[in-house]
Amino acid sequence: MKKQIFNPNPEFAKDARVGSMDAYWELQNRAIEDYEGFWKDFADEKIDWLAPYDKVLDESNAPFYEWFTNGKLNVSNQCIDRHLADKADKTAILFEGDRGDVEKITYAQLSQRVNKMANLLKNKFGVKKGDRVVLYMPMIPESAYAMLACTRIGAIHSIVFGGFSAEALKDRIEDAEAKIVITADGAYRKGKPYMLKGVVDNALSQGGACVDSVLVVKRNNEATEWVEGRDHSYNDLIDAESDVCPFELMDSEDPLFLLYTSGSTGKPKGVQHNTAGYILWAQMTMEWVFDVQGDDLFWCTADIGWITGHTYIVYGPLAAGTTTLMFEGVPTYPNAGRAWKMVQDHKVTQFYTAPTAIRVLYKMGENEPKKYDLSSLKVLGTVGEPIDPPAWKWYYETVGNSNCSIVDTWWQTETGGHIISPLPGATPIKAGCATFALPGIMTEIIDPDGTPKEIGETGLLCITKPWPSMIRNVWGDEARYKKAYFGDAVKDGKPVYFSGDGAVLDEDGYITITGRMDDVINVSGHRMGTAEIEAAVNKDDSVAEVAVVGRPHEIKGESIFIYIVLKDGHINDDIKSHINALLSSEIGNIAKADDIIEVPGLPKTRSGKIMRRILRTIAKGEAITQDTSTLEDPSVVGQIEACVKG
Ligand code: PRX
Repeated sequence: MKKQIFNPNPEFAKDARVGSMDAYWELQNRAIEDYEGFWKDFADEKIDWLAPYDKVLDESNAPFYEWFTNGKLNVSNQCIDRHLADKADKTAILFEGDRGDVEKITYAQLSQRVNKMANLLKNKFGVKKGDRVVLYMPMIPESAYAMLACTRIGAIHSIVFGGFSAEALKDRIEDAEAKIVITADGAYRKGKPYMLKGVVDNALSQGGACVDSVLVVKRNNEATEWVEGRDHSYNDLIDAESDVCPFELMDSEDPLFLLYTSGSTGKPKGVQHNTAGYILWAQMTMEWVFDVQGDDLFWCTADIGWITGHTYIVYGPLAAGTTTLMFEGVPTYPNAGRAWKMVQDHKVTQFYTAPTAIRVLYKMGENEPKKYDLSSLKVLGTVGEPIDPPAWKWYYETVGNSNCSIVDTWWQTETGGHIISPLPGATPIKAGCATFALPGIMTEIIDPDGTPKEIGETGLLCITKPWPSMIRNVWGDEARYKKAYFGDAVKDGKPVYFSGDGAVLDEDGYITITGRMDDVINVSGHRMGTAEIEAAVNKDDSVAEVAVVGRPHEIKGESIFIYIVLKDGHINDDIKSHINALLSSEIGNIAKADDIIEVPGLPKTRSGKIMRRILRTIAKGEAITQDTSTLEDPSVVGQIEACVKG
């Protein structure tokens, strides 16, 4: 059956930057015909170059691609200084706290605060170009100041999401060899203070000898431990700093930030993004996919600890000169109308969130949006996981009043910005479908040998040409970068970027994402490697073997499903809670298992490889269709099924 098509609102399309599919194809065909020319035009138009580049794309050391070679720029100039001539009094960041406190920070104020923070980092802590700065921060404006202050002086920030544990924080600090950690005492969530500084203390008591200073922003003023000589109060120091800090001239390919993310094997990888290509695409996608214009007010509900927060709370909106809403709290507190009240109060024009949040908001208050005036909304966005048709329909009809385009944006930490998405004024939309690659992006759905998949067949979702905002390296590990991203698929004999996701094309050329094909799971839009979870579970002495899979979950998208073989004895509540405690201490509170099932053995091939596909099928409660004859012990499958059924 053909899917229903939802056309863009014609009123919106009239003024949109890309207002029709003809306009989309004009752009995309230009990129197909002259790839470098396409990118050159946009780089010249969008970036405030401080020295020109010599070459658009250097492929000589593939897959270590370089963009805009030898160009000079500075991201804090791109996001702040260059706007000051005509936007000094425009609100750059509209902050709303958990308890309803609101602060509007103009571009002029943002400039002063970022310059002061840059001076503080430079003068007091000796942070220099190339140094790594870890941020373990809540959702407060100082997080954005710290990010931009780093870019101003050329330091490389690495933000660790505040839900990660001390252990996970310590690993990331050590891998990046950070010299300073910026944190806050804590912040507020659901009306109550919560703490972050203690987690930093804990992390640094376990390791992280590279860190000599901790800069602490006061947010909730709760008492914290204080390590004399190491810990410093931002609030006490910042006033003395000058609000003029000349920015560093950065090379196009100087690293901008690291962001750790999970893969199918080993520890999380430090995804490295560099300067020019990242900021160019952050700005272009803000303009194309959200079509921010004039006095628009853009609200992305992500946390700055994830790539979505980097690109679409801070860098993209500010590079585009728009107003970005930053929210400390959760959209369901104090009630299910909080998010909609905020849309009404602030006249939000673009709202960007994750399917998990949409499902929660729907479940908690199906009719809640109708109580508010949401007529300011023009574009609704979704990201992080596939959106199921009922959630999509509610978002479209009840939140968007059947008037707003939904942009289902597919991308990843590694891609820096959107890759596949509708354009709100151009693309006729199908529910739950990411539609087309953006202009300038070349995606293909192929077999590992590069053969294109037929319509309706799932294949590897690959990006077959380098793009400006792509990952440049896994921090300190070139071999891992090559293997993780360019080791699975080739096209015309050349390794191409494989995303880890599967996708399928329909008869109209629309792309639908089918989900991860590797051992990465997505719980409430939080990406986790099954290997990391297994490593944590293995720390329980009673566990002999473990295998983790994702199981479809009504709200979270996927939940963590753990199969364990115990050394002796039977599973009991103590073991289960110890395993969950391990997940919380090794990874963080985002990693909680919904199911922990004891089984007599795991399905393994004769060479000892665990057949996870079988385990996934059983976890879903589906009938096994896989060939089990190659297993070392095929009878184990029936036994596992019996354990799961209880
Ligand atoms: O599986 C895809 C899923 O999220 C993964 C990337 O996770 P992360 O690097 O944490 O970045 C999330 C925010 C960009 C992808 O490999 N994913 C992301 N967006 C979508 C999606 N799955 C389906 N539809 C999407 N729109």
